[in-house]
Amino acid sequence: MKKCFFFIFVCIFIGREITVAQPLQQSSAATQKWWKEAVVYQIYPRSFKDSNGDGIGDLKGIISKLDYIKSLGVDVVWLNPIYQSPNFDNGYDVSDYKKILPEFGTMADFDSLLQGMHRRGIKLVMDLVVNHSSSEHEWFKQSRSSRTNPYRDYYHWWNAENGKPPYRFSLFDINHDAWKYDTTTNAYYLHYFSDKQPDLNWENPKVRNEVYNIMRFWANKGIDGFRLDAFQFVAKDTTFPQFPKRFEKNFMHYYAMQGNLHGYLQQMNQQIFSKYDVMSVAEGAGNTFEDAHNLVDSNRHELNIAYAFNGVDIAKPNGYSLLQFKTVFSQWDSAFEHSGWLAVFLANHDQARMVSRFGNDAPAFRTHSSQMLSTFLLTMRGTPFYYNGDELGMSNPHFTSISDYRDEVILDAYKHTKQTGGNINVFMKNLAFGARDNGRTPFQWNSSTNAGFTTGTPWIGINANYTTVNAAVEENDPNSCLNYFRKLVQLRKNNPTLVYGKYTLLDKDNTQVYAYLREDAHGKFLVVLNFSDKNAEFNNPILMKQAKLLLANYTTNATISLTKILVLRPYEAMVIQL
Ligand code: GLC
Ligand code: CA
Repeated sequence: MKKCFFFIFVCIFIGREITVAQPLQQSSAATQKWWKEAVVYQIYPRSFKDSNGDGIGDLKGIISKLDYIKSLGVDVVWLNPIYQSPNFDNGYDVSDYKKILPEFGTMADFDSLLQGMHRRGIKLVMDLVVNHSSSEHEWFKQSRSSRTNPYRDYYHWWNAENGKPPYRFSLFDINHDAWKYDTTTNAYYLHYFSDKQPDLNWENPKVRNEVYNIMRFWANKGIDGFRLDAFQFVAKDTTFPQFPKRFEKNFMHYYAMQGNLHGYLQQMNQQIFSKYDVMSVAEGAGNTFEDAHNLVDSNRHELNIAYAFNGVDIAKPNGYSLLQFKTVFSQWDSAFEHSGWLAVFLANHDQARMVSRFGNDAPAFRTHSSQMLSTFLLTMRGTPFYYNGDELGMSNPHFTSISDYRDEVILDAYKHTKQTGGNINVFMKNLAFGARDNGRTPFQWNSSTNAGFTTGTPWIGINANYTTVNAAVEENDPNSCLNYFRKLVQLRKNNPTLVYGKYTLLDKDNTQVYAYLREDAHGKFLVVLNFSDKNAEFNNPILMKQAKLLLANYTTNATISLTKILVLRPYEAMVIQL
């Protein structure tokens, strides 16, 4: 990694600022693929649209909004889990991978959803949650019933007569202890997430075959891709060696990308991905660029798209540094310039709202700053993974009471903070900024009761700003976030240079402005983004003689000056053709 880092450092900070007049070569990363050109729209089914008044979004609800989704211009929908589940973790605890959660509908509903999407030219990517199952999955029920049950080694067990198992970290357990003692068989089972999400034993070939079966079932239905949940953690050393003292909690270092992970992915590719025209993306991309490349370089026959958290992790309650933001995104772009492919995202169902974390959700700035962030996402190299509601500029709801939250992991953490005498005020402030429930409030369709999401009581509160921030109002406003997002999607569609073209960071030390070039043999674009709430100057090294403003988020015309300095208004975004 060190070597690689040094190389990238040199490229970004020394060489790449200058636009060199040499022919732009097609890199291998530029091999055209539909999943590179796609804009992925992530739908959180529980919060998108409720069709039957029980306060919970469902498949029929999504079906009723397919024309809206089509109107965005997006090509792919990624749906969070919709399988049978006790719902401890909103579907990320699956108890039957081939059944639909009744709250969401039936298999017939699913079939018509898929049909409706395909009729409109929209592809569907499903979430595959197989690092763990629910503790209520039949496999686990069998597994825990006796030590000799045929399903015993579908999970990881440690017999208690061998003493306490070597420490393993759990992300969701309050005490961060990943071993749970089970009296029935006097043994501990492993759970990297909650104790209701026991880890599947990927070292067991039967488990892998079960998973391929499940994948075949959905692929045969005609779905177009898989998002592999928490997949970087599936492989384990089943001798469970002791990790170095005091470092046992270094989760990414000791738990990600272990053992035969790549062997499993190659097998999955051979069994499934190579047989269907599906795209594949795994959550998490390890610790290094090398790790990420090992997942997605096409000659390795594993996955298509790396989904790394380094960008989205930058936002902190007390703000973030734009210089760091630029560095991270530039380094990742540079590391993937010649092979492999990345997802570009600033939000998902595990994050608070993009505009609240990276922009500014004060009424005066919400629209411009969320449009500016969308401009970034849609003009970077990589496949944009765009989270539902961000096209409206939906923001954090600013919940103030713990009773507003629904995420069990948060509720557990709250109890724990209370019990251990932690600072509740700080805890609540951090939640309001970063809790994942912030990104899960119902989609704001219109100004009627409950934002048109449900006729019943929504499962989680609706952002009070829904009377002004909603799809119906924004539909009729040519300058809304919604209509701006549509223009951005079209701009990307019409200009493959924005998908494949070389990226060059400009004016890198500018603490307010993020500016970059995208160019290839077919075109050249300058993207200028003011990330601050003040006017900002961009020190422009580019000849602007034939510049044409393609898209901007201010209604009064931006002037593209022919001089070196470009003055931008707060959160102003421009895409300029050169
Ligand atoms: C992933 C999911 C998250 C879930 C966790 C456990 O990180 O995105 O929502 O809680 O895996 O499945
Ligand atoms: Ca419902």
